Amino acid sequence: MAKFVIQKSGPLEGVVEISGAKNAVLPILAATLLSSEKCVLEGVPALKDVDIMCDIIQALGVSVNRSIEESKVEIDASVINTSRAPDHLVEKMRASMVAMGPLLARMGKAEIHLPGGCAIGDRPIELHLKGLKALGAEIDISENGLVKGKTDGLVGTDIYLDFPSVGATENIVMAACLASGTTLLENAAQEPEIVDMCNFLNKMGARIKGAGTDTIKIEGVKSLRGARHVIIPDRIEAGTFMVAAAITRGTILVKNMLPDHVKPIIAKLRECGCDIFMTPEGVVVDASDRELKSTDIKTLPYPGFPTDIQSPFMALLTTVEGHSTVIETVFENRYMHVRELNKMGADISVKDRCAIINGGRPLKGTNVLATDLRAGAAVVLAGLVAEGVTEVSQIYHIERGYENFVEKITNLGGIIKRVDD
Ligand code: EPZ
Repeated sequence: MAKFVIQKSGPLEGVVEISGAKNAVLPILAATLLSSEKCVLEGVPALKDVDIMCDIIQALGVSVNRSIEESKVEIDASVINTSRAPDHLVEKMRASMVAMGPLLARMGKAEIHLPGGCAIGDRPIELHLKGLKALGAEIDISENGLVKGKTDGLVGTDIYLDFPSVGATENIVMAACLASGTTLLENAAQEPEIVDMCNFLNKMGARIKGAGTDTIKIEGVKSLRGARHVIIPDRIEAGTFMVAAAITRGTILVKNMLPDHVKPIIAKLRECGCDIFMTPEGVVVDASDRELKSTDIKTLPYPGFPTDIQSPFMALLTTVEGHSTVIETVFENRYMHVRELNKMGADISVKDRCAIINGGRPLKGTNVLATDLRAGAAVVLAGLVAEGVTEVSQIYHIERGYENFVEKITNLGGIIKRVDD
């Protein structure tokens, strides 16, 4: 198994270009199943999760023509010869579940295995299924966890989401696009990736209003045409590199990012004492020669502080004198990085959903695990400032969600290399 070997590095300095958003391209790839015409996606990052979603679509009989060099994918879903997503691919990626809505809408049938839990929580999908049932789908879950959906035609209706689930919002909106009549989805997720997906769907001829608010109205149409779309920049990758500037007390120009998508991260980094300003080329995070201050974060659905930046930000807080607190409200078990950071000498204690960081103790390099995608990013950032050498194993988690992570960190002066065991 490969690992990252990281040495104590100086302040990260220079320019980083943000890639397309993983959490936008995954639902948008699923959305291409709604049209029998060709779609062209640009700004598609080279990530393991994107590989898996493309493999799933191809396994359904759809033609997928991908150019990694050009960050481009052409999808022609004129023919879909099965609605059964292959288990061996679905079990690799929970987000496969967002193919349920489009398949039901286009084919009247969908069979996808329950994705199961992961390190950060059980990841149930009852809100997805409740919404699809409300649209008229019959859903059955077999003994071995195969979710089978079928319908003679979805019918628009009013749906209230008990929790603003990103995946459930995506599944329901995509299914409602081809339903007969109008769907009003309330307490919907408001993430920028939902807006990007809805922008793509509207280019295909969907009639969606309110994306980005908690109420989304979808007027069903008979069919959707093909479309071309450029994926929005990845706000979580952008936030990760903004935190990287702060933890190393460096200065980084983050290019190809949308500041509006990271307002809570900007606010919290400024609270810590970073100088953050916009330039025509991008966002500059300047933490050079600064004594940063402790702060408190609480994760919330968008537009609140993003849960996906909780672990990298916690790594930063271990290097800041004083007590900080982190409250994770979105996932029930998203503190797997605490044990790894404490192995490096951090002093973090967790009680219920609250982590208390007694920051300012020097971190020491050691062998640590990437327990999930964002926890992996956290220990990499910690390794850049820890004394000595840090070896991070299970890096397949990290390579799911950060394109050219080693190259980007190296170009900023970080000492990191990928080693195959
Ligand atoms: C998406 O996951 C993202 N993944 C996650 O990013 C992100 O952390 C999450 O949204 C929250 O922003 C993708 O977009 C591929 P949810 P998703 O449904 O859709 C509970 C990353 O690191 N819930 O909003 O699975 C659920 O258990 C990943 O890039 C139910 O209880 O998130 C969780 O506690 C990690 N029932 C909370 O809601 C349901 O039916 C948020 O889940 C659905 C969700």
